[in-house]
Amino acid sequence: MGFTDRHLLGIEPLGPAAITEILDRADRYVALNRDPGRHADALAGATLINMFFESSTRTQASFELAGKRLGADVMNMAMQASSLSKGETLIDTATTLNAMGPDLLVVRHPHSGAVNLLAEKVTCAVLNAGDGRHEHPTQALLDALTIRRAKGRLHRLSVAICGDIAHSRVARSNILLLNRMESRVRLIAPPTLLPKGIEGFGVEVFEDMEEGLRDVDVVMMLRLQRERMDGGFVPSEREYYHRYGLDHDKLAFAKPDAIVMHPGPMNRGVEIDGTLADDINRSVIREQVEMGVAVRMAAMDLLARNWRAAEVPA
Ligand code: NCD
Repeated sequence: MGFTDRHLLGIEPLGPAAITEILDRADRYVALNRDPGRHADALAGATLINMFFESSTRTQASFELAGKRLGADVMNMAMQASSLSKGETLIDTATTLNAMGPDLLVVRHPHSGAVNLLAEKVTCAVLNAGDGRHEHPTQALLDALTIRRAKGRLHRLSVAICGDIAHSRVARSNILLLNRMESRVRLIAPPTLLPKGIEGFGVEVFEDMEEGLRDVDVVMMLRLQRERMDGGFVPSEREYYHRYGLDHDKLAFAKPDAIVMHPGPMNRGVEIDGTLADDINRSVIREQVEMGVAVRMAAMDLLARNWRAAEVPA
């Protein structure tokens, strides 16, 4: 069984076959995107609405471009500036938009679980573009595609995820995906930046970069999510960089061919050294952005296939 779901709300419900189907299709879209023609028609005639209740540059742009390359009509709603400030609830906004008959809502929201709730209230497909600290499935899928293309596989790899794990939906979705594909995940963070209940995640935890990075194949750095902190999580940015910031010296503890990843936006000089981030021999951060468009095309294409299959012929 591949990916047969009506919504893409998280990695949690996906098995290895569904993940592989999305990645295989995304590989084909990478090739298409590199071609001068670039357009496909999997979403021709469909309407996609981007609802971002949190500011976003790359993810929103990536979904917009992906939708347009597949021939959809794409509408971006500036949610912070609109009805929310007038007191309308998330569900009222969603039902209003649903009444306009879109085929797909792409939703980002600061509260964990908000996108799942919304999916229960609308009749169209819903794709989670990040909800609070919960899930960010297309980010984990684009990371997986980047890793698979660099390493040739997704199983039996050792992947270190470093930094602000506690506030990170990217970390959660990546842990779920990598475990499901039979890779080993190590988390490296100060105790204050680890989520509660970490014992149940099926990961190894380290406080020290030298120990944690030893012999890993992939190093995934995370942004310090200041907007989700209420003070007191890290001593100072300088101290944090000294202990947890990734530079060429710390990377030397990993395998000689280990790749460096970051979901963006990056704080150069806080969690990662700027020259390392730009080092095309080690860093795949630019590829991640490219893979993002292809993965979103693949996910939306498969959602469209699934909703068409569910339509009752007239
Ligand atoms: C991530 C997010 O929003 O969760 N960024 C992204 O999707 N490109 C990570 C982050 O904000 O640090």
